[in-house]
Amino acid sequence: MGTTLGFGVDIGGSGIKGCTVDLDAGKLHDERIRIATPDPSKPDAVADVVKQIVDEFGWRGPVGITLPAVIKRGVAHTAANIDKSWLGTDAAALFADRLRQDPKNVVVLNDADAAGIAEISYGWPHDREGVVVLLTFGTGIGSALFLDGRLVPNTEFGHLEVDGHDAETRAAASVKEDKDLSWAEWAGRVSRYIRGLEDLIWPDLIIAGGGVSKKADKWLPLLEVRTRVVAAELRNDAGIVGAAVAVRENLHG
Ligand code: BGC
Repeated sequence: MGTTLGFGVDIGGSGIKGCTVDLDAGKLHDERIRIATPDPSKPDAVADVVKQIVDEFGWRGPVGITLPAVIKRGVAHTAANIDKSWLGTDAAALFADRLRQDPKNVVVLNDADAAGIAEISYGWPHDREGVVVLLTFGTGIGSALFLDGRLVPNTEFGHLEVDGHDAETRAAASVKEDKDLSWAEWAGRVSRYIRGLEDLIWPDLIIAGGGVSKKADKWLPLLEVRTRVVAAELRNDAGIVGAAVAVRENLHG
């Protein structure tokens, strides 16, 4: 039996990454390509880069694409770390048109939702029972909520108000960098944030993702929270893998 292949593209504020995905193993099938996000990150310019990446692989099949935005039926409704002209853009139609694809072969979804789909499918598949939340700590904080493995799309828990502030402006990984916080200082902020979230949704498991999940041993043990918190397994590839799964399973935002 041959490998089942898919294709995912993960669009972020600084880079656009894409690759073929081995859907049986839940891994990248090749070396991924990363191209800097155009500045300004307007829809047309971003679509050109997505096409360039897909073309480099000679891929003609279905494509899953993430955006750091709330996506409902292909349309972007927020634009936190990308150009504001995405607001109201039918991203699914734009990408399908640029890739000359049938619209049913293109799915666009929130980046954290895609990462969550990858983690729940391949990273922590035995822990999907109950309420599971994936949190991505990067430039902002993304979230994906699952009940018994089924996604509740477009939760925006990164924007919970904590002590009068938008949580991601206090506890994103970028804040640790910008303010040169120690692991202990940053973990204190993350704990404060997670405790606020716990009081509202009482999760059974939290999966911590984003670039900092690579250094999970430095900060997960410092968290003072009620819920079991584990590190994401797929690290930086989760968005690409999850996007490829989403288009195969027709999971829309
Ligand atoms: C956005 C989310 C996104 C997260 C991670 C937040 O600022 O509101 O939609 O998932 O950043 O990129």
